[in-house]
Amino acid sequence: MNRNKVAASCLLLLHHALIASADTDTKCCNALSQVPSLTDKVYYPDTEEYQGRVKSIWSSSAALGPWCFVLPQSAEDTATVIQTLVRNECPFGILSGGHSDFPASNSVKEGVTIDFGRMNQTGYDPEKKIASVGPGCSWQSVYETLEPFGVTVTGGRAGGVGVGGFITGGGNSFHSTSHGWACDNVQNFQVVLADGTVVNANADEHNDLWQALKGGSGNLGLVTRFDMHVIEFPDPKKPNIWAGVAEYELSAADDLTAAYVDFVENNHLDKNSSTMLYWAYTHSARSLVVRVAMDNTVDMAHPPIFDRYLNTSGLISTSLRSAPMYEITVEFDLGQPEGLHNIWLTGTYKNDPRVIKFAADKYEELIAGKLAGLVAHDSELVTLCSMFPLTQAMIEHGRANGGNSMNLEAKSKGENGVLFLASLSIKGAENEAIALPIMKRWQDEVDAYATLLGINWNWRFLNYAYTGQDPITTYATDKIMVASRNYDPDMVFQRLRRTGHRILA
Ligand SMILES: Cc1cc2nc3c(=O)[nH]c(=O)nc-3n(C[C@H](O)[C@H](O)[C@H](O)COP(=O)(O)OP(=O)(O)OC[C@H]3O[C@@H](n4cnc5c(N)ncnc54)[C@H](O)[C@@H]3O)c2cc1C
Ligand SMILES: *[C@@H]1O[C@H](CO)[C@@H](O)[C@H](O)[C@H]1NC(C)=O
Ligand SMILES: *[C@@H]1O[C@H](CO)[C@@H](O)[C@H](O)[C@H]1NC(C)=O
Ligand SMILES: *[C@@H]1O[C@H](CO)[C@@H](O)[C@H](O)[C@H]1NC(C)=O
Repeated sequence: MNRNKVAASCLLLLHHALIASADTDTKCCNALSQVPSLTDKVYYPDTEEYQGRVKSIWSSSAALGPWCFVLPQSAEDTATVIQTLVRNECPFGILSGGHSDFPASNSVKEGVTIDFGRMNQTGYDPEKKIASVGPGCSWQSVYETLEPFGVTVTGGRAGGVGVGGFITGGGNSFHSTSHGWACDNVQNFQVVLADGTVVNANADEHNDLWQALKGGSGNLGLVTRFDMHVIEFPDPKKPNIWAGVAEYELSAADDLTAAYVDFVENNHLDKNSSTMLYWAYTHSARSLVVRVAMDNTVDMAHPPIFDRYLNTSGLISTSLRSAPMYEITVEFDLGQPEGLHNIWLTGTYKNDPRVIKFAADKYEELIAGKLAGLVAHDSELVTLCSMFPLTQAMIEHGRANGGNSMNLEAKSKGENGVLFLASLSIKGAENEAIALPIMKRWQDEVDAYATLLGINWNWRFLNYAYTGQDPITTYATDKIMVASRNYDPDMVFQRLRRTGHRILA
């Protein structure tokens, strides 16, 4: 073909694509609105309701405006939605609490966003000790609802985070050392499959789906209810935890790193306590500090496992106190200003001070140094270099509770690990574009260093992974593939779902 012909056929293709998209666009949303039970649950652009749903998305990078939002109110609605979308071959996204950070992690641009925002109720059965939680709940509302009963669940440490993405992506909680990932505490998932069938997935029914969904995210079906085992507070009348953040001068970093590594190795001796070690750079103040989050879920003040941290010199301030979980979760929301673009990247390594120190040194060089020099002073740049324990005490709950799909038993080789999160918030898409390659370089260099030391687990936590980090390929991929073949034979969640992490990337 000569050049003109190529150009002409490209134009023709482009023309067809535009027409097709315009057609599908109206076809998909109209098909949904025409179902009587859904008519008032479809939100079109240029309406207040639609704008409200776009705004509900935490990260501006992810806040994509779809052809329309559809907000099911029940499993039956959800079944009708998926059947209608599949019949019309409509691309779609899945939005629960909207706290995933990257473009097309929850909402879509070219497609329909299935939005669970109206399915935000929490129920509690005190006889069975099971909380039934809607996918569109925020953890804040779940904790508030359960508190009068003196119970809680393995949920988010930040109150604004949503239930649907958090649990299906694993879910690292205050209670994870004592009780495992959030997904390991799901007794039953109510799931709407690609063909609209509503099933329960638990130890006795559809056990393969139950296991695969514990980590499998949106690859297998639409979860419309999570039935979770609750955790009882020692004193139901005082359902508090002891928690807060201690801030230190940067000079304390090496001592705190040693204390952190020590904590991780000893966490099995006090499973009620957990921690997080992080460096924080604030652009407006041009300040770099190191912080330690500490918490004890049975409200024990100053448990001895934290002595080494608290004895470290350079302490500036602490917010450690006894308070209800739903108060602590406000602090752990990290005070993110609204309307910022966000980038999160992650890796996991053996618990080793060398990789922590390397990550922090690179953070200082590339983020607090290089990147900070490239963006304007009013760009609202906020970044963290965070370390979370990933202990055997935590991992072993997976198998004990019937198995999940996260594959950590194999990847950890029986050792304790450190879950590294590189995160950034910044104003404006232009600044985000400047930051992305630098963030990726930082993460790549940490990965390469860990590989060099022979301590890279080559495992990526889905809830912290950026697009392209392909966490599912590091999981028990076979388990998830088999469940996909059994429950989604037409590959609807690989073909038409345009958001989140897919099985084979
Ligand atoms: C401030 C902050 C703090 C955080 N803290 C933690 C933490 O302590 N521990 C932790 O583990 N993670 C944490 N996260 C990460 C968080 O777990 C993920 O962003 C998670 O995806 C949020 O859930 P969501 O419902 O808000 O997700 P959404 O962005 O709404 O959804 C993300 C993806 O999850 C899948 N999904 C969502 N709902 C369903 C459903 N009903 N059925 C099937 N698939 C579904 C879909 O693939 C969807 O694309 C935090 C995030 C933020 C922003
Ligand atoms: C559920 O969502 C509705 C609509 O956004 C809101 O008015 C209500 O307060 C929410 N309920 C809970 C328990 O958060
Ligand atoms: C952890 O909490 C449980 C339940 O309250 C308690 O039995 C146990 O003694 C606590 N462990 C430690 C080390 O404090
Ligand atoms: C911390 O300091 C206290 C009081 O000074 C002391 O009793 C304790 O042994 C110290 N703990 C550690 C782990 O250094």
